[in-house]
Amino acid sequence: AKTRYYKWDVKYEFKSPDCFKKLVITVNGMSPGPTITAEQGDTVVVEVANNLLTENLAIHWHGIRQIGTPWYDGVEGVTQCPIVPGDTFVYKFVVDRPGTYLYHAHYGMQREEGLNGMIQVSLPRGQSEPFAYDFDRSIMLRIGSTRVPMNKPPGWLPFHLFGSENLSPLLINGRGRFNCSSFGTPTSDSGACNATNPECSPFCVDSLNFEIEGHNMTVVEADGHLVEPFEVKNLFIYSGETYSVLVKANQDPSRNYWATTNVVSRRPQTPTGPVWNDTKPRVAQSIAIRAREGFIEPPPATPDRWIMLLNTQNRIDGYIKWAINNVSFTLPTTPYLIALKENKLRNNLHKVFNQRPPPNGYDWQNYDIYTPPPNVNATTSNSIYRLRFGTTIDIVLQNANMINPNNSETHPWHLHGHDFWVLGYGSGKFDPFNDPKKYNLVNPIMKNTVPLHPYGWTAIRFKADNPGVWLFHCHIDSHFFMGMGIVFEEGVERVGKLPASIMGCGLTKGLISP
Ligand code: C2O
Ligand code: CU
Repeated sequence: AKTRYYKWDVKYEFKSPDCFKKLVITVNGMSPGPTITAEQGDTVVVEVANNLLTENLAIHWHGIRQIGTPWYDGVEGVTQCPIVPGDTFVYKFVVDRPGTYLYHAHYGMQREEGLNGMIQVSLPRGQSEPFAYDFDRSIMLRIGSTRVPMNKPPGWLPFHLFGSENLSPLLINGRGRFNCSSFGTPTSDSGACNATNPECSPFCVDSLNFEIEGHNMTVVEADGHLVEPFEVKNLFIYSGETYSVLVKANQDPSRNYWATTNVVSRRPQTPTGPVWNDTKPRVAQSIAIRAREGFIEPPPATPDRWIMLLNTQNRIDGYIKWAINNVSFTLPTTPYLIALKENKLRNNLHKVFNQRPPPNGYDWQNYDIYTPPPNVNATTSNSIYRLRFGTTIDIVLQNANMINPNNSETHPWHLHGHDFWVLGYGSGKFDPFNDPKKYNLVNPIMKNTVPLHPYGWTAIRFKADNPGVWLFHCHIDSHFFMGMGIVFEEGVERVGKLPASIMGCGLTKGLISP
């Protein structure tokens, strides 16, 4: 195995990814940033220089489990102090499995401002996948956005911004086209179609559909795991997911074919594609995915602990927040990992975060998921779930109505530090007595990101066997920013010596010797 070194310069630059000039965060002058390529078992070293001048930074390696290096997971407030402007931070981790992964900023909403890219891990030389192809092409789909001021406290975004229609461009490999006239501004005035107009703020459409004209695609891999091949015309893909598809270039060679993405789950302004509000084909694709025969890693037969997570919105101090079991998540100023690991802080944990554990479920028998939440007892909290090391955990994500009547959104949930088995999806309210009987325990896929469909539920299982502190959250940046996440601690006493480079903020200041 080799060590791959990268040196990154992160800064703001004016770019026009969608025909309109705006500030985006670049890595070595690029957005998306450079692709990290490595072989299974290699060590990746990334030296990040924060030249954003006025903003902190942290970078997460999405899909890399960080076994033995939980301090390099790159989540500000959870695993490290932010990299302050002018500072350099070195990430170092092993890429232990082949597949396509992502990296992106994990501070504020910087991911949507352009700091993201791909990590491609190939099989060691001489080994090959159980399918053949001639060329390998990578496509990254994402929603572009405009500049959001970072000095605003969480929750500053009034809700109506998110109720507006698609003003953000869809980008393929960082390029797209944004129709400024779509909200009535003269296109000659680029300033008006730019940053400061609150109507341009990014919002939460991260459910996309990908299609190549005249070609079917065979899905062979998802989130770094081989799946039983299946054919699609449209691939539904959610923020934080990765897929590999095989495409046969067998059509008329005298012409070109378009590849396109469309918004689903919110009313789009983009042409063609499947009907935006029809969730059935999306649920059908979710259910159709199975682990590939011969590569199945079966889940433990039963869980040791079971957690139910109701996904709703609540009004807290006049602001609309996302909440899980009526608790809206906030990050502490001292990262959990350091507080839980370092002796000097361990006796003062109550100074770092709320010690009362978050709710293990919600009042499912009496809750109506089809009406707006009653907004009782909604709070913000930074408390965390502490899991017994080595146990098997089941999570049921339950979707419900938002504050707006007749509205339930898609939420792609991403777990740090683990892959989980996807046991099942359903529509309506999860029934704890009957639905577990329908779980797929034979050949469920393993993933790190899974969609929760509108008014539906998604059940996953994972083993709490990676010592560290791990975030589990909706991968739509603005949703997480508004409280849609939780944190798990497991086996923190087994974590090795923390590097001093992750310290320096909050109560960790005193820990670094001068
Ligand atoms: Cu790709 Cu915590 O996220
Ligand atoms: Cu969400």
